[in-house]
Amino acid sequence: MRCLTLRAALLPAATVMLVALTLAVTAQASPAIVEACEQCHGVDGMGHGNSMIPVIAGMPAEHIEEAIYAYVDGARSCGRVPLMCEVVADLSEDNIVELSEHFAAQLRGPSLEEFDASLAAEGEVLHQEHCSNCHVPPDDENVARAIGIPLHGQRSEYLRYAIESYFSGDREALLPTMANRILLLEPGDLGALVHYYSSYRAAE
Ligand code: HEC
Ligand code: HEC
Repeated sequence: MRCLTLRAALLPAATVMLVALTLAVTAQASPAIVEACEQCHGVDGMGHGNSMIPVIAGMPAEHIEEAIYAYVDGARSCGRVPLMCEVVADLSEDNIVELSEHFAAQLRGPSLEEFDASLAAEGEVLHQEHCSNCHVPPDDENVARAIGIPLHGQRSEYLRYAIESYFSGDREALLPTMANRILLLEPGDLGALVHYYSSYRAAE
């Protein structure tokens, strides 16, 4: 009797799990397209091997989508690696959702970038003053709701290039508030910010 009651109590939960599993399976991105991304970003989304390839593992899906659309509509260009823009140019909206969910679900490993401690300390002050309202670390509980893409622990060469691109106008900041903040920086501040974001080590 007890056992039956337990089974009855468990049934709805099991059904929900089954439905969730089926959904997860249907939401899976086509292996061929994922493989194209993995050639550069890695099977684990950590982009090992080329310091210009950003880490996309564990980046909130909304942020991945936003970035892909920025490459598709030209707000971002792929000056250094044109193939990135070519690969995303013809993706369907469904593909973009699926790929974003695929990489968002991955665990973000440690970046272990090198940094200079005193520059990182200067960068932290700048970050707190100008950037922290929108950019939070990748393991912050509010990361998916944060307006900006997580910068802490991103590959330093990519970050340096990205910040410089906004600063020089090569990349369009989608929010005017961010564009204004970037314009308040001095050229020497860019390096300090990169060292600060590189100094980030996720809590064990
Ligand atoms: C040829 C290598 C290459 C391939 C293939 C590639 N990427 Fe990229 N990806 C890059 C590079 C390099 C950048 C940075 C480009 C820039 O801004 O100049 C990038 C940037 C990104 C970003 C932005 C990350 C951020 O921090 O804002 C996302 C998201 C992304 N790629 C997803 C994908 C997806 C999804 C695919 C597969 C459909 C893909 N990439 C295929 C090299 C590649
Ligand atoms: C008002 C909110 C806001 C503020 C303040 C802000 N950002 Fe952003 N940032 C965003 C958003 C939204 C994006 C993603 C869309 C885009 O590329 O513009 C972004 C993207 C970025 C990226 C690209 C990340 C990637 O992975 O490609 C960098 C780098 C960046 N911001 C640096 C900064 C720095 C440095 C500051 C402070 C000086 C700053 N942002 C302040 C909202 C903000």
